[in-house]
Amino acid sequence: MTQISMVVNGTAMTGDVADQTLLVDFLRDDLRLTGTHVGCDTSQCGACLVHVNGLAVKSCTMFAREAQDAEVATIEGQAMADGQLNAIQQAFQTHHGLQCGFCTPGMIMATAALLQDNPKPTEDQIRNYLEGNFCRCTGYHNIVRAVFAASGQDVSLIAAE
Ligand code: FES
Ligand code: FES
Repeated sequence: MTQISMVVNGTAMTGDVADQTLLVDFLRDDLRLTGTHVGCDTSQCGACLVHVNGLAVKSCTMFAREAQDAEVATIEGQAMADGQLNAIQQAFQTHHGLQCGFCTPGMIMATAALLQDNPKPTEDQIRNYLEGNFCRCTGYHNIVRAVFAASGQDVSLIAAE
């Protein structure tokens, strides 16, 4: 076992991990941050997406020890300080961008990374960016509308289904 340290949602965290422990398992099992989900074993679904040093990362694709000294952000750190939903979360709620919610933490984290790089994405850019995030419920259209709205653009430009 190796002791690792990282800052997760602004708080310094330490833990003892095996060499093969995945970051997603460290977050879920050791830190009890179970908002980061595991939806596949093929690195395809994006349910486990978090930010590591500001970059979107599927946390099932890296070892926990590789995040040594990193700044990690998960869905648990996304709400405002007073507990209110942030703009992206609110847009997903308002525009029905979720049903069962299983994919939603990954979608929210992916959207945050997208809007950081590209504050006013087009519909096509949103669809391309979210290609690595699977949703089994929504058919994606309302997710795209939610992301468009979260970027402050007029969601009526994307037809409702
Ligand atoms: Fe990481 Fe599916 S659990 S991509
Ligand atoms: Fe159910 Fe996306 S809302 S998987």
